[in-house]
Amino acid sequence: MSTVRPLGAVVLAAGLGTRMRSTRAKVLHELAGRPLVRYPLAAVADLDPDRVALVVGHQADAVRAASAEAGLRDLRIVLQPEQRGTGHAVACAAADFADFTGDVLIVYGDVPLLRPATLRALVDSHRADGADLTLVTLAFADPRGYGRIVRGPDGNVVGIVEERDASPAERAITEINPGLYAVRSEVLFRLVEALRPNNAQGELYLTDVVGLAARGGLRVHTVQAGRPEELAGINTRAELAGMEAILKGEHVERWMAAGVTFEDPATAYVGPDVTIGPDTVVGPNVQLRGRTRIGSGCRLDGTAYLVDTVVGDRVHFLLGCVADGAEIGDEVRIGPFAHLRPGTRLAARVHVGNFVETKKAALGAGTKANHLSYLGDCEIGPDSNIGAGTITCNYDGFHKHRTTIGARVFIGSDTQLVAPVTVADDAYVGSGTTVTRDVPAGALAVSRVPQRAIPGWSARFRARAAGTAAAPPPVKSAPRSAPAAPRARKRRAVASRARARRRR
Ligand code: UD1
Ligand code: CA
Repeated sequence: MSTVRPLGAVVLAAGLGTRMRSTRAKVLHELAGRPLVRYPLAAVADLDPDRVALVVGHQADAVRAASAEAGLRDLRIVLQPEQRGTGHAVACAAADFADFTGDVLIVYGDVPLLRPATLRALVDSHRADGADLTLVTLAFADPRGYGRIVRGPDGNVVGIVEERDASPAERAITEINPGLYAVRSEVLFRLVEALRPNNAQGELYLTDVVGLAARGGLRVHTVQAGRPEELAGINTRAELAGMEAILKGEHVERWMAAGVTFEDPATAYVGPDVTIGPDTVVGPNVQLRGRTRIGSGCRLDGTAYLVDTVVGDRVHFLLGCVADGAEIGDEVRIGPFAHLRPGTRLAARVHVGNFVETKKAALGAGTKANHLSYLGDCEIGPDSNIGAGTITCNYDGFHKHRTTIGARVFIGSDTQLVAPVTVADDAYVGSGTTVTRDVPAGALAVSRVPQRAIPGWSARFRARAAGTAAAPPPVKSAPRSAPAAPRARKRRAVASRARARRRR
């Protein structure tokens, strides 16, 4: 019976990433909406290792937070207080592996497209060969920026030389170090202790471990695994953008293969955690982000921004919609120019039209709010009609209050619902009403100033206004106006007597 040695991993994510020219640590920069550090951790998690150390330094707390969702069994966060090189970073994890005997994978945090299959090939080869140290190597047409693999006359690896320290002959080597190693724990932490900073950067290079092991007579093996674009590290913003384009293309292609039409794939953005049902048509400039899920047979006409939004089947988004944290039932029609904010729940066949904003709003099946409305902190039953310009006045400057509207309610245009307030089933609210008290089922609520019509008013007003316009401008200190009317004079006398009483 063969006993499988425990598997450990060290992921290096302490560097600032000087070449990014950023105040943000490199591994916190986002690729397809996720921080870079999440990618190698996810690849490592796929192998279900027994123990993982994540070495953090710059913005340690944020990097730690970004790694929380990786789903690793035993994740230890190790602080590298000063970035003295990749070898030093591994040495910082020694204490966490003091009681661990097994094989340790070392992965750099800036290699986001790394696949679990490549890591598995590395571990399998390492174990099958009974090696002390195994590293992945591959040929890059353009090896610039990478450590070069130096081999002896017998073809065995004798070491890795960093580009800065390489001779012209060594620079011509195209076999590069992508930075993936499997090392027996018994030798790894002994070797990193022996590193010296004898190089152009004055750092402790993990890559020097390879030369130390080879010179010490240890079994150093290499394995060819992975593809060049998969193992490319990100050091600059241009490389980040290049990788973003690769990933974006891959995501869109994946959904096209699954039966989704993209009218303009180049302008579509589909995040890694998004799902889209077949026969959905995605127009130009559509961004689907976060945990958005789109059903089948939907249509997004274009220029939409959907985040963490769940959409049913046969839903139609007209041009220019934003949805964040919304739940949308089947056959709903939204837009053009609608804004669905968190907590929006639209049941089947709801219509939300142009310039409608919803927030924490539940609309029952078949309900329509087609024009110019704000619906916040409200619940609306099925088959109700919300007229143009309806506003739920949910905020009194201190607290939010709820509006409840029943089934088959008709809210006339230009209605304000001053929450908390309830409009029961089958009620009618007349246009222009300010609803301040609950409306019973089946009732009509109407609050209006009675309309007056004053005959001939326009003509008189125009004549007066024209006369004023022709008159000379008023002088600064106008003479006192004519004596006050008797009633006003009486009011003033009463007020002055009251003041005199108060003084006494
Ligand atoms: C490294 C390798 C190089 C290889 C390349 C592959 C070394 C010395 N060189 O170079 O041979 O071809 O990766 O992409 O290892 N980090 C720390 N602490 C430190 C320094 C770095 O945690 O003190 C982390 C960084 O956050 C980064 C990773 O290690 O995630 C790699 O560091 P980076 O500076 O990008 O190394 P490269 O110069 O790319
Ligand atoms: Ca790098």
